[in-house]
Amino acid sequence: MVSKELILEALKSLQDPEYGKSVVELNFVRDMMIKENNVSLTFVVTTESEDYQNEVRQAVTQALEAKGVGQVHIRFRSITDFEREQLAQGGIKAAVKNEIPNLLALDSQTKFIAIASGKGGVGKSTVTVNLAVALARLGNKVGIIDADIYGFSIPDMMGIEERPELVDNAIIPVVKHGVKVVSMGFFVPDNAPVVWRGPMLGKMLRNFFAEVNWGEIDYMLLDLPPGTGDIALDVHQMIPQSTEIIVTTPHATAAFVAARAGSMARSTNHEILGVVENMSYYECGKCGEKEFVFGRGGGAKLAEELHTELLAQVPLGAPDNHISEADYAPSVYKADHPTGQLYLEVARQVTAKLN
Ligand SMILES: Nc1ncnc2c1ncn2[C@@H]1O[C@H](COP(=O)(O)OP(=O)(O)O)[C@@H](O)[C@H]1O
Ligand SMILES: [Mg+2]
Repeated sequence: MVSKELILEALKSLQDPEYGKSVVELNFVRDMMIKENNVSLTFVVTTESEDYQNEVRQAVTQALEAKGVGQVHIRFRSITDFEREQLAQGGIKAAVKNEIPNLLALDSQTKFIAIASGKGGVGKSTVTVNLAVALARLGNKVGIIDADIYGFSIPDMMGIEERPELVDNAIIPVVKHGVKVVSMGFFVPDNAPVVWRGPMLGKMLRNFFAEVNWGEIDYMLLDLPPGTGDIALDVHQMIPQSTEIIVTTPHATAAFVAARAGSMARSTNHEILGVVENMSYYECGKCGEKEFVFGRGGGAKLAEELHTELLAQVPLGAPDNHISEADYAPSVYKADHPTGQLYLEVARQVTAKLN
């Protein structure tokens, strides 16, 4: 049996080039996840050198293979200034003690649900927000990571105007409708476009885990960027234990495109919890008749193709948001709104599947 102790034992003799000490002693081996015989872990590095990373990759793989470990997935992350300071001041023990509880750690109870879609504009963020609020309404501790770094929209959709505070060098998420939120939108001045390139984006995402004090979280929802690009893949690989919900419209071609997002989930071994079909129909306010404006059957077909189920068919219609000003959130349906009820039902299905 592969265990955390066994892994640390195998890596004890690896030394960090800068500190000249064991990487295990320095607490540079983090977030170990063991799934069947495969291991994923984060490795803290003091240099950006690719040669060093390759060396580490080889050494770790060799050491673990000798202990009977199957596949090894290593995420590299640079040491933070804060960690350097900790190591300089109080030595190693202090650095370990002050670490922010890590959601990706082996013993983390947090269940991850990534919301994915084949393309933008199908309601992925709307589903993320309303499923998160519904899970919170059922009494769960819920967080959202707005991983759509270029196209962040969660703060606006939830009506968040405040910015996160910084306490003890950690970002404190903003809480709205009972959900803790972190978004790139909090760190970009005045709706400026995000102009970073790939590697920076990956780093930013990692910071959403490492530098944020999330506290206890039962369900963490990730609003993924649309499609199957680099960031989406990065998120998939960073959270090997994540599950997924795929959002599509009822149109046949939309479902076809969404299937790609589904197969990406497959290839990263993420369990697909189900499909949400959004903008399924328009219900006439006067006669109650349903009009299938965007076609029919896309969600069901996609669910069948992905061997999963259709969790909901969400109708067209904006939330009637005339609650108090403090509560105002353009995209959040009230609990007693028919669509709010629908999302509560999805939340119940999701919790049943994950527990
Ligand atoms: N069921 C719905 N009824 C009416 N408008 C919707 C519905 N779902 C989403 N929208 C609207 O459609 C637009 C795209 O939705 P969004 O959630 O931002 O999609 P994505 O995140 O996939 O790009 C938004 O303006 C949103 O308010
Ligand atoms: Mg979006």
